[in-house]
Amino acid sequence: MSQHTSALAIETAGLVKTFGETRAVDGVDLAVPAGTVYGVLGPNGAGKTTTVKMLATLLRPDGGEAHVFGHDVVREADEVRGRVSLTGQYASVDEDLTGAENLVLLGRLLGHHKKAARERAGQLLEAFGLSEADGKQVKHYSGGMRRRIDIAASILNTPELLFLDEPTTGLDPRSRNQVWDIVRAVVAQGTTVLLTTQYLDEADQLASRIAVIDHGRVIAEGTKGELKASVGAGTVHLRLRDGGRRPEAADVGPRRRRSYDGPWTPRSSWNRTRSR
Ligand SMILES: Nc1ncnc2c1ncn2[C@@H]1O[C@H](COP(=O)(O)OP(=O)(O)O)[C@@H](O)[C@H]1O
Ligand SMILES: [Mg+2]
Repeated sequence: MSQHTSALAIETAGLVKTFGETRAVDGVDLAVPAGTVYGVLGPNGAGKTTTVKMLATLLRPDGGEAHVFGHDVVREADEVRGRVSLTGQYASVDEDLTGAENLVLLGRLLGHHKKAARERAGQLLEAFGLSEADGKQVKHYSGGMRRRIDIAASILNTPELLFLDEPTTGLDPRSRNQVWDIVRAVVAQGTTVLLTTQYLDEADQLASRIAVIDHGRVIAEGTKGELKASVGAGTVHLRLRDGGRRPEAADVGPRRRRSYDGPWTPRSSWNRTRSR
């Protein structure tokens, strides 16, 4: 671990998780600066959710280490849990309740008094453009509204670190933009966000740094600026953490320009890589 752990929200070294024969996460090193949006970009099955679950203490790593704000996710799991929140595919909202009822209930479960819980719920519904849906059960929400109430539920108590696992997958462009605005607002309030996505443009829009992950490995990592400048030139210059993995990274895509019109996959994506 580095000496600057305090400035890092997340630091992992050689993180591994296996399911039977599958090495879902195969030696992942991450360094996520506090106070930023960090993008983990990769296709379906790359190991994004498994990584997030280990960092959120929901899965125990089989190898390597992970620290969240300097706390070991295994040995100091309670310390970690008190600082993080997770918005995943299956959030904790109750479909039969309204958005407001859900937020008030969760607020009460978090120990807030009724009045404070109601106030916070009202604030969040307003901020997330869900006030007008008051009275509507969550099961009647649109996909975009559902994603927004999920995120609202996960930031009732402002977490130090928020995991957003593919927050916009399956959403229409307008809803996607609304979620993006929410992510920007969350990070502006000081929360660190780890965002997983299959979309290069989403990572580019929101993240300061991006780790490209495939087959459980980080195959490239860099700042958004570096990646963006290179995309504009039709070439992405990827800085490899491990020069020995250059052949894998070079295999990232065919020699043609990509357009931002679909999920990112290693083979349809960037056209060239370089090691440091
Ligand atoms: N509970 C599980 N049991 C068995 N295999 C799993 C389990 N969870 C994930 N996997 C496998 O691990 C790999 C990584 O999955 P996942 O982390 O969900 O990827 P992503 O979130 O990037 O789509 C995939 O091959 C997936 O099938
Ligand atoms: Mg996933």
